[in-house]
Amino acid sequence: MTYEHLDEEARQILRDNDRGSYTVPTSGLYPYQWNWDSAFAAWGFSTFDNNRAWVELETLFASQWEDGMVPHIIFHRQVPEYFPGPDVWGVEHTPPTSGISQPPIAATMARAVYESDKAAGRARLEGLYEGLLNWHRWFMRARVTDGLCCVTHPWESGRDNAPDWDSSMANVDTSMVGEYTRRDTSHVNNDMRPTKQQYDQYLALLYFSRDCGWDIDTINEKSPLRVADPGMHFMLLRAHRDLLWIAQEFGKPDGAEIQGWIDSMVESAEKFWNADGGYYDSINMRAGEFTNTLSCASFYCWYAGMDDTRMIPHLERILAAVKYPVPSIDPEAPGFDHIRYWRGPLWCMANSQIGAGLAEMGHTELAEKVRLGTRAVIADHGFAEYHSPVDGTPAGGQHFTWTAAVWLTFASPQAKGGF
Ligand code: GLC
Repeated sequence: MTYEHLDEEARQILRDNDRGSYTVPTSGLYPYQWNWDSAFAAWGFSTFDNNRAWVELETLFASQWEDGMVPHIIFHRQVPEYFPGPDVWGVEHTPPTSGISQPPIAATMARAVYESDKAAGRARLEGLYEGLLNWHRWFMRARVTDGLCCVTHPWESGRDNAPDWDSSMANVDTSMVGEYTRRDTSHVNNDMRPTKQQYDQYLALLYFSRDCGWDIDTINEKSPLRVADPGMHFMLLRAHRDLLWIAQEFGKPDGAEIQGWIDSMVESAEKFWNADGGYYDSINMRAGEFTNTLSCASFYCWYAGMDDTRMIPHLERILAAVKYPVPSIDPEAPGFDHIRYWRGPLWCMANSQIGAGLAEMGHTELAEKVRLGTRAVIADHGFAEYHSPVDGTPAGGQHFTWTAAVWLTFASPQAKGGF
């Protein structure tokens, strides 16, 4: 079987979702710029349009807040039918943005774009360096507690509807949420999206932080939700390593500071180890308890540069239980739902991080399984936002940017297969 038509289809998806200086994840459901989607888009563009890859990252960092945060959504234009839009977030910024961040993978992707063409990328990467450094400093100040990277809203994690947040969300008071009209369910089936109760909780939490004026200290102290997330921790740790590499490449004076973050985050990563279950788990920081969730984020340890073999048996067991890798939740977990948003489906972009990490750590056979499985699910079921790991059913939005990007960089036979 040849896959060249899929290379072309993937490039076409990126072109179709290109809005000039940023790429939408998919038209309709997600009409703005999302933070980590854009970083994946840049990686995808780097395989055929290097300049466009840099533009994507430059646009993202042009909306960085003064305190260093890079927002999770940038509302470049008015789309009245999107909810919750800029008026709900209530952030004063031009262009308007959301008030939280998202997985900090931009340094990793910027390095990958640069390494795909160093001569073309030198000035571009150097131009982004201060923004990247300030964003990482913001994370260390605003989101790292007791050495652990935490989220203050499920949407910050990128795994919006994962069960990791349930125990904290149960304490969110939704009595003041009121009436609203969801828009996500007009694009996608109800059974593929969060429930009404979960949506109420997301909004209540958003209103809470908005009413704190997005003040970091108040939110840290009072928000009902503060969850240490191994996914965020491992992605930030990986990004610190890439930022350090960039700093050294340009002879920047910040190496010792970044190395200090790396050392401390490697050390504290062990706190995520749930010894009862024998896996990396998230922690409800308000209750001081593990959430007992074995998710795809538990497998990000290799991507973070940690040569850890303890997660290997879990991955082997899980891959043997499903048709396509890597389910977002352990299929043996009680709430596993193969089609519902972050409660079972596989996400091709997460596969690229897990697969590339495995390869970097020398787990070649498993890395190849993840890569070939990603190739198969896209070839069999298309460029969906996410898929059922059980039978490949395409779910969520279609014609999806990061799935296309990951095809070009990771899954296609022509792809490099890593960073
Ligand atoms: C969903 C995902 C999130 C992603 C966004 C746009 O909210 O959970 O990770 O960034 O869609 O694709």
